[in-house]
Amino acid sequence: MIRVWVDGRITAPEDARISVFDRGFLYGDSVYEVLRTVRGEPLDLADHLERLARSAERIAIALPRTLGAIDEAVRATLKAAGNDDAYVRIVVTRGAGEIDLDPASARGGSLVVIAKPLKMPPSELFERGAAVAIVHVRRNARQAVDPAVKSGNYLNNILALAEARARGCYEAIMCDADGAIAEGASSNVFVVAGGVVRTPPLDVGLLEGITRRKVLESCARAGMQAREDRFFPDDLRGADEAFLTSSIRGVMPVVRVDTSAIADGRPGPVTRRLMALYAQRLS
Ligand code: PDD
Repeated sequence: MIRVWVDGRITAPEDARISVFDRGFLYGDSVYEVLRTVRGEPLDLADHLERLARSAERIAIALPRTLGAIDEAVRATLKAAGNDDAYVRIVVTRGAGEIDLDPASARGGSLVVIAKPLKMPPSELFERGAAVAIVHVRRNARQAVDPAVKSGNYLNNILALAEARARGCYEAIMCDADGAIAEGASSNVFVVAGGVVRTPPLDVGLLEGITRRKVLESCARAGMQAREDRFFPDDLRGADEAFLTSSIRGVMPVVRVDTSAIADGRPGPVTRRLMALYAQRLS
């Protein structure tokens, strides 16, 4: 079932209400997290709550509850929803107030937790790999809405994904203003070249994905060479392998960039190994 926690009350989705004056609705003035459960247990909840707090602090949104209380709200919502495996979205907005850009006009934030049955992307994308498009929309500069902040303001990413979908691709890959690859619309991106796993460093301007971090840790534990370094669209096109990471997807192979295949156009051995290591976390 779907259940929604809104400011202390768990309801069915049709009864979940938030003010039209809420700045999350008016301006995307909010922060959020997305995670999944594994046999009912929220995966990496502590990491997600820590990032939620960091995002909120970076844009001076006061969390309306302690992290302990948000943890309890997540668990209570999951229990009420009663799914085997669930998708969980935690949203904190700056709250409602006068229609006024001034953040000081907000009268205290709202907390929303949504729990719904987990719907994974089609298995074909994991078995045969996904196509990505390197889009014209650039990742926001860190001096604008810093991509490190998981804010509710996703219009840039929405436009990027729309561009990718219009080109028949599953995910959009965005570059920074200098043309270096940053990340996907809702994922981090990795390439494998000459046996080395590479992902863009945080200073390019991207979300420090929790799955990204876990994959880098897996590489270190498994003795695989991994580096955070800047690379460009031609490096992605010319890579031996590529993959995406996110909390819902885990590790997803990328086999095509626009119309050109990556290597032989099939998920590579390093990607498959990292997928297997990730699957161990779910078992
Ligand atoms: N998106 N980059 C962006 C822009 C993202 O929105 C996400 C996650 C990631 C991957 O981060 P993580 O591994 O912590 O999920 C990278 C979530 C899943 C979403 O918005 O649905």
